[in-house]
Amino acid sequence: MSGAAVSVRVPAKVNVQLAVGGARPDGFHDLANVFLAVGLYDVVTVRPADALRVTVSGADADQVPADGTNLAARAAELLASRRGLAPNVEIHIAKDIPVAGGMAGGSADAAGALVACDALWGTGCSREELLALCAELGSDVPFSLVGGAALGRGRGERLTPLEVGGAFHWVFAMADGGLSTPAVYRECDRLRAECGRGADVGSVPAPEPSPALLDALAEGDLAALASAIMAGGTSNDLQAAALSLRPSLADTLVAGEKAGAMASLVSGSGPTCAFLTRDEPAAKALAEALTATRTCRTARGAPSPAPGATLL
Ligand code: C5P
Repeated sequence: MSGAAVSVRVPAKVNVQLAVGGARPDGFHDLANVFLAVGLYDVVTVRPADALRVTVSGADADQVPADGTNLAARAAELLASRRGLAPNVEIHIAKDIPVAGGMAGGSADAAGALVACDALWGTGCSREELLALCAELGSDVPFSLVGGAALGRGRGERLTPLEVGGAFHWVFAMADGGLSTPAVYRECDRLRAECGRGADVGSVPAPEPSPALLDALAEGDLAALASAIMAGGTSNDLQAAALSLRPSLADTLVAGEKAGAMASLVSGSGPTCAFLTRDEPAAKALAEALTATRTCRTARGAPSPAPGATLL
């Protein structure tokens, strides 16, 4: 075992499309999930210690569990148990991805911890083994490992890489306080049941990716991507549920549209709102304008696609 520290950089994600099927008997939902990694990063560092410990730094560090419930700690435990090792590492998370924000920050930290522990312990996992461990840890964790862009099927863990023909520039408006992913899925089911459609697998059409959206991504066509995101109101089936639980997000979305965003949507289960912009200067201007509206805690620009988990 090496004594040196190992650091891994992991990206946040936005779901350019999140088509949600009916509730499955196991409590999950089948998805057509178009993941795009964006250039907001956490850095996960592991070093040998006498027991498993988690420390967190960054503006929102106090909102991150610094104990065994942290998904990064569970990642270290999972790899250690599969290889008959003691999970004795200190995991430090330098946090820049919004916490419970719908940007897969916890999943990113788990992917980062897995890659870092694999390097520290010399366990030499193949890409396939790492992806299988990621899928055990959570639906979004495999994508945090691979980054770029991918279509996620099943509960989001079965990935097909997607071509992206150019850079897209985003602004992310961070809210005060997070939203619980299970609570947002439950609210989606409740709203569907309330409409009389039913919320189970038999009542909801199977989720399918939008061909127009996939073409727009592949061609790097900004205008086409913006219109595919806004087709039918939004490409995110969880958006209505996130707005129902946090009505103030509607003000954030409207403020971004008024300030010139080409497309706006709630990121995943929220509450972070994502805005597509023309280019990097437009993203910078929109982030400043949105922050000034006080409809969000803060807003930041980030480019896409971004690489997946990367050893530093
Ligand atoms: O896989 P993960 O642990 O991130 O999922 C958290 C929760 O989100 C699940 O327990 C479930 O309530 C909900 N979920 C879902 N369908 C998915 C992914 C997540 O209902 N495809």
